Amino acid sequence: MNVELTYQSRIAEYLHVDAEQVSLYWKGRVALYTMLKAMGVGPGDEVVLPAFTCVVVPNAILYLGATPIYVDINPTVLCCSAEQIEQALTPKTKAILIQNMLGLSFEVEEIVSLAKSRGIYTIEDCTHGFGGKHQGVFNGLRSDASFFSSQWNKPFSTGIGGMLVVNNRDLLQPVNPLNSHLIKPSAKDQYILYILIWARTYLLKGFTYWTFLRLYRWLSKKGVVVGSSSASELEGIQMPKDYVKGMSKVQCRAGIKALSNLEQLISQRKNSGILVHDWLTSQGKTTVPAEHLAQHAFLKYPMLVKDRELFLQHAEKEKIPLGDWFISPLHPVLDSLEPWGLEVSNVPNAVYISKHIVNLPLEIPVPRLINFLELYKNEII
Ligand SMILES: Cc1ncc(COP(=O)(O)O)c(C=O)c1O
Repeated sequence: MNVELTYQSRIAEYLHVDAEQVSLYWKGRVALYTMLKAMGVGPGDEVVLPAFTCVVVPNAILYLGATPIYVDINPTVLCCSAEQIEQALTPKTKAILIQNMLGLSFEVEEIVSLAKSRGIYTIEDCTHGFGGKHQGVFNGLRSDASFFSSQWNKPFSTGIGGMLVVNNRDLLQPVNPLNSHLIKPSAKDQYILYILIWARTYLLKGFTYWTFLRLYRWLSKKGVVVGSSSASELEGIQMPKDYVKGMSKVQCRAGIKALSNLEQLISQRKNSGILVHDWLTSQGKTTVPAEHLAQHAFLKYPMLVKDRELFLQHAEKEKIPLGDWFISPLHPVLDSLEPWGLEVSNVPNAVYISKHIVNLPLEIPVPRLINFLELYKNEII
């Protein structure tokens, strides 16, 4: 069996689905774009999505000529409720994106049944949630389709990478021809990715995190390395050349290796997430509602701080690999969100959270993390 088919069947085995339901892509966003296209999304259609996401998500909608309709988030779970989504539906709504943020899912069943009752497709954005569960079911299995990411900081990493799982088998028919036209990653793309995966595995230790991160972001902005996003994806809504790329052998090999100890990693993150939660609760700080803890495999634990820039400086000084994801409702775009059609005054929760959120790493020893938090606890909200 070739490496692509092996990886596809390992993903399928993990999620208990059939291999034919799984497709592989260069990045998660390509999986989303392919799914929307297979659903027939195009000009005149609306796609409902959270106003607290990565800018590449509305990009995939806009590249097809459709209109993103943003819904504010519930600030405690960082996701949209079924009630909030219902208010955004119109006769033009073709699909709803349900996102699990940092591994957290919310009201997925309710949103899926609402969509079904209106004849609307659902896609779960499980880029943070591979292997996690919601109400006892793996993330991504309730909706018509779901997409996953295996980019650097995701539940497991292939450098960059994406997968699509199609649950509504009627959609396999339009997906398959799209998959057979994917662009093949070049030898250069694969070689650079191989070096980056190697560097991350062997050079990225706690003390090099901040240096490596800065260097990687700078090089990918300059287009020198295969970065998570190209400058054009962050600057506007034109689809980049070679966007619709398939997955390479380098990614498949890294994925097969990473899947072998994923269960252990998820259980470690979950245990650490609970310890961090308990500490934040004991200090009277904002936490994820306790009823979510049993279900979710946190990728990171979200925390709110008064002054994020300052808090990140503390983390760098103390060599804690703190994350700064979602610094904007359409991360990481800080300037005008007008090209993406997002009016920030309509989404006050997303604006507030994106000003104050940091995410705590759950792979480092918890006592070290809590010692750090103790030092700066007056700056935590
Ligand atoms: C919420 C969310 N959706 C989608 C994506 C896109 O995933 P990828 O980088 O694999 O295209 C990301 C990327 O980090 C993300 O955070």
